[in-house]
Amino acid sequence: MGEFKRNILVTGGAGFIGSHVVRLFVTKYPDYRIINFDALTYAGNLENLKDVENCPNYVFVKGDICDHALVSGIFSEYQVDGVIHLAAESHVDRSIEDPFTFARTNVMGTLALLHAARSTWAGKQSCRFYHVSTDEVYGALEMDGTFFTEDTRYDPHSPYSASKASSDHFVRAFHDTYGLPTVISNCSNNYGPYQFPEKLIPLFINNIRLGKPLPVYGKGENVRDWLYVEDHARAIDLIFHEGKDGETYNIGGFNEWRNIDLIKVMIEAADRLLGNPPGHSLGLITYVKDRAGHDLRYAIDSRKLHEELGWEPSLQFEEGIEKTIRWYLDNQEWMDRVTGGEYADYYDKMYKNR
Ligand code: NAD
Ligand code: TYD
Repeated sequence: MGEFKRNILVTGGAGFIGSHVVRLFVTKYPDYRIINFDALTYAGNLENLKDVENCPNYVFVKGDICDHALVSGIFSEYQVDGVIHLAAESHVDRSIEDPFTFARTNVMGTLALLHAARSTWAGKQSCRFYHVSTDEVYGALEMDGTFFTEDTRYDPHSPYSASKASSDHFVRAFHDTYGLPTVISNCSNNYGPYQFPEKLIPLFINNIRLGKPLPVYGKGENVRDWLYVEDHARAIDLIFHEGKDGETYNIGGFNEWRNIDLIKVMIEAADRLLGNPPGHSLGLITYVKDRAGHDLRYAIDSRKLHEELGWEPSLQFEEGIEKTIRWYLDNQEWMDRVTGGEYADYYDKMYKNR
């Protein structure tokens, strides 16, 4: 047990961002033990980690972060001294349908982890609880060139962002009340390989491949700030090791796109890679009923992370999106497997009335 320099519990490691974080830590830090703790909900998929599953410093534990006994058992069994907490319900549309699940996992689950860390770490040095959050807690911006900074007041609108905001507040409360060594980051929209195809980019790439309609909410004028997932994972590594206790860091690539413009870029690249004539899939664009409470614009000011810790994104968007589209087209079996079963029911329910 004492053979590892650190024992880091990564929650939600079988999900989209979590799998990139686990891969980075397992390969970059062979002297750390990485314990991937994940309930394997519809969004969790161990296939995302096939390339590292046999590494000697990797352990997978299936379980629910809301299970207090299991969580505290893991802290003692593996002598956990660091947590990178990503497990969450993460999709806004699902939160509109079922807010309770979001409160349970995102709020109560985070609280269970905080409680276990506090109980186990009393009097110990060099521990860290890293909570991975989202820019959506800050609310929505107008089309006025302003940005979310670390000091922007919380103003969540969706059940998803309300649950993440609440979890952020609990993390800060544990720092301020009990002195738990915590750090938080709030990141913009991620894209890249292994994202579950309920989210805009993989959903649209898959539909272009299959010649299915591309359901654009409202007028397609909402703006999101997109970051390549491996750049997020690198930021998490840096903040985990060098961030200051009690601090918050915004992560984003200064890369804003109106949905409709982004969709046209995806169509151009996907048609080219599929060998279709230019403009072939433009006719798939279908304007559908808007999402309820749809936040107009997100844009992150990540200068603090750049100035204090030297982080910057490694990929230009054009390069990142091309790489991403190629990955989904080259990994159609992964896509076909994750879109089987429950996903088909979700798709019918979500899109039939839009
Ligand atoms: P995801 O939905 O792809 O993965 C979530 C993972 O958490 C899945 O593996 C799932 O099985 C697991 N999980 C869910 N409920 C659980 C529970 N009760 N117990 C244990 N495991 C559980 O999500 P993602 O997009 O990878 O997001 C990861 C984190 O990053 C989330 O906290 C999210 O709020 C945050 N975030 C995401 C984005 C983004 O663009 N995707 C941006 C900023 C922040
Ligand atoms: P999404 O990937 O769900 O991320 P978030 O809502 O957390 O930003 O959606 C990104 C944007 O794309 C958002 O403005 C909603 C829009 N969108 C569509 O227009 N159609 C879709 O089918 C989906 C899933 C999203």
